[in-house]
Amino acid sequence: MIFRILYGILLTLIVFGSAFGMIHARANENGVLIRYVGDETCEVCHSSASIGKQFQIWKRSPHARAYRDLESPEAMTIARKLNIANPQKNPRCLSCHTTAAGTHLPNIISTFRPKDGVQCESCHAPGEDYAHYSVMIDPVKSREAGLIIHPGEKTCITCHNSSSPTFKEFDYQRTLAQIAHPIPKK
Ligand code: HEC
Ligand code: HEC
Ligand code: HEC
Ligand code: HEC
Repeated sequence: MIFRILYGILLTLIVFGSAFGMIHARANENGVLIRYVGDETCEVCHSSASIGKQFQIWKRSPHARAYRDLESPEAMTIARKLNIANPQKNPRCLSCHTTAAGTHLPNIISTFRPKDGVQCESCHAPGEDYAHYSVMIDPVKSREAGLIIHPGEKTCITCHNSSSPTFKEFDYQRTLAQIAHPIPKK
């Protein structure tokens, strides 16, 4: 009898334990409870030649100047036609030209800067939980912590679509090659 009760308690603990684990994991997958840390946090580890200089490659890419380009003459011409006074303050323009647009401040930590444009976390998901050495070196742990290791075409077309005033077409393979930043083979 006493064993049955103990067994029952043990089962309850296991069931509830894993249920809580699932709730936590689901929240992480949606990126809801994980905060954005900003590109400079990734820079700390992703700028050495041995890892593949992802930070420098990104910094030279159009994504890094996406916010700045919202004050270019071309942007102002687009804005005028749409009756927008300042594209850098307009939620529609910001939704694709920055990271974490419309996110409430508690979802952002102090190192994050919107003016850095379309940052790492726009494609790889918010980094608070995964941007630590012991997590990053383990693909299973980093995925559990919310990292999207292989963002696909679906991620790109959240911005590269016909809602963009300058949109013409989106060719996934071609554009992917233009922003490639792999880890070198050992
Ligand atoms: C404390 C150091 C550190 C920080 C900070 C860091 N990374 Fe990493 N990251 C690593 C290491 C080390 C690897 C593994 C490299 C390897 O496999 O050779 C890695 C791997 C990755 C991978 C590939 C994972 C895989 O399994 O193929 C991605 C994607 C990535 N990091 C993105 C980011 C992003 C985005 C940020 C910022 C939000 C970030 N990292 C911050 C150290 C770091
Ligand atoms: C749905 C996402 C989206 C929205 C909304 C958006 N953009 Fe863009 N924008 C892009 C993408 C993606 C590109 C890259 C070229 C392309 O495919 O349109 C781009 C490119 C641009 C460029 C060209 C940059 C260059 O010099 O090469 C300008 C200027 C620009 N956008 C201004 C604006 C302005 C101003 C607004 C607000 C009225 C805006 N965009 C709203 C996604 C968007
Ligand atoms: C516009 C979206 C986008 C941005 C911005 C971006 N990445 Fe990536 N990243 C990708 C894609 C797509 C891949 C290729 C995934 C694959 O191999 O299928 C990738 C691959 C990687 C890899 C290599 C994974 C491997 O196994 O070789 C690392 C590391 C990485 N990114 C880190 C970063 C860091 C750090 C930043 C910012 C400095 C960044 N990325 C910015 C989309 C992005
Ligand atoms: C958060 C929105 C966003 C996401 C997600 C995004 N992009 Fe972009 N991308 C932009 C904006 C905005 C520009 C224009 C930046 C500028 O020139 O000011 C751009 C420009 C580019 C350019 C240069 C212009 C062109 O169209 O040829 C390439 C290449 C590119 N993106 C590839 C990708 C790929 C590949 C992915 C997915 C792995 C991706 N982007 C995901 C917003 C995004």
